[in-house]
Amino acid sequence: ALPNFVKIVEVGPRDGLQNEKQLVPTETKVELVNRLGKTGIKVIETTSFVSPKWVPQMGDNKQVMQAIDRHPDISYPVLAPNVRGLDGAIEAGAEEVAVFIAASEAFSKRNLNCTIKGSMEKASELITKAKANNVRVRGYVSCALGCPFQGHVDPAVVAGLSKDLMDLGCYEVSIGDTIGVGTPGSWSAVLDETTKVVGVEKLAAHCHDTYGQALANIHRALEHGLRVVDSSVAGLGGCPYAPGATGNVATEDVVYSLHGSGYQTGIDLDKLVSIGHWISAQIGRPNVSRAGKALQLK
Ligand code: HMG
Ligand code: MG
Repeated sequence: ALPNFVKIVEVGPRDGLQNEKQLVPTETKVELVNRLGKTGIKVIETTSFVSPKWVPQMGDNKQVMQAIDRHPDISYPVLAPNVRGLDGAIEAGAEEVAVFIAASEAFSKRNLNCTIKGSMEKASELITKAKANNVRVRGYVSCALGCPFQGHVDPAVVAGLSKDLMDLGCYEVSIGDTIGVGTPGSWSAVLDETTKVVGVEKLAAHCHDTYGQALANIHRALEHGLRVVDSSVAGLGGCPYAPGATGNVATEDVVYSLHGSGYQTGIDLDKLVSIGHWISAQIGRPNVSRAGKALQLK
């Protein structure tokens, strides 16, 4: 039988906040990570070491990394697009980084100013140096279910890039539905291809909820055998280079749905719900977690 434990990768502090127009104070980011660290979540993507000209909101990456309380059993990966980002991450004490490759040329150009091939070369250089420094690397394939500029994305391309990232030395690859266009049907098409070339235990589902499909897609991914899910507390987020994309699926909604379906996450839902309300108030946004709202009314 498949295991019933699902690992949640909380991406709110990075994917969730990167798109906020108003700079979120560093202390708020640090407090968000620290509060999340008390819920039972074991992976918290904390910030990104990308160009601050491209994503000003993550410009305080080093300060955030140095101020958070680190628990030995939690990992705090950071996003890095190139060796420059890796170097910054290592300097700031990161023990894990995440690289990202787009499955569409048009998106790669807009998000990384680079072709897919060029970005894979940068990822390769980064992974080699990361491994030499005992830094673990997670991979993302973004726009895996569709691209805001070119539309359809071929599942075979997603499978090929996922395998390339694993071959280069990533320990896990997250399949990113950056703009939330995927459905259970199109997720099945992508996972059918990808699981042919990458072990299902190495794959994660990264769903944005733009079209309201995220939970259905996650359950479909679980049926395929995936046991790693990326999500963002209060459904924070959106990608600055993906117009119209909403935030990630809310962690509260995922945890509620998983616990109600016989899965375990090790996460305290009540604590998560209060963090969702807290961070939404801090940044002046409505909390888009449905479970979060419902549980607050109780
Ligand atoms: P570029 O302009 O082509 O690169 O950007 P460059 O090498 O010419 O560098 C431009 C400037 O940035 C230079 O500074 C570099 O030194 C500096 P200047 O000489 O002009 O003063 N620079 C850096 N600074 C800090 N950290 C770095 C770094 N690299 C260069 N690492 C680049 C290329 C890759 C840098 C740029 O395109 C970039 O930073 N892109 C990141 C965009 C981004 O963060 N997008 C959001 C994350 S992806 C996402 O959200 C999807 C995901 O969630 C999955 C999903 O949803 O599917 C992961
Ligand atoms: Mg994302």
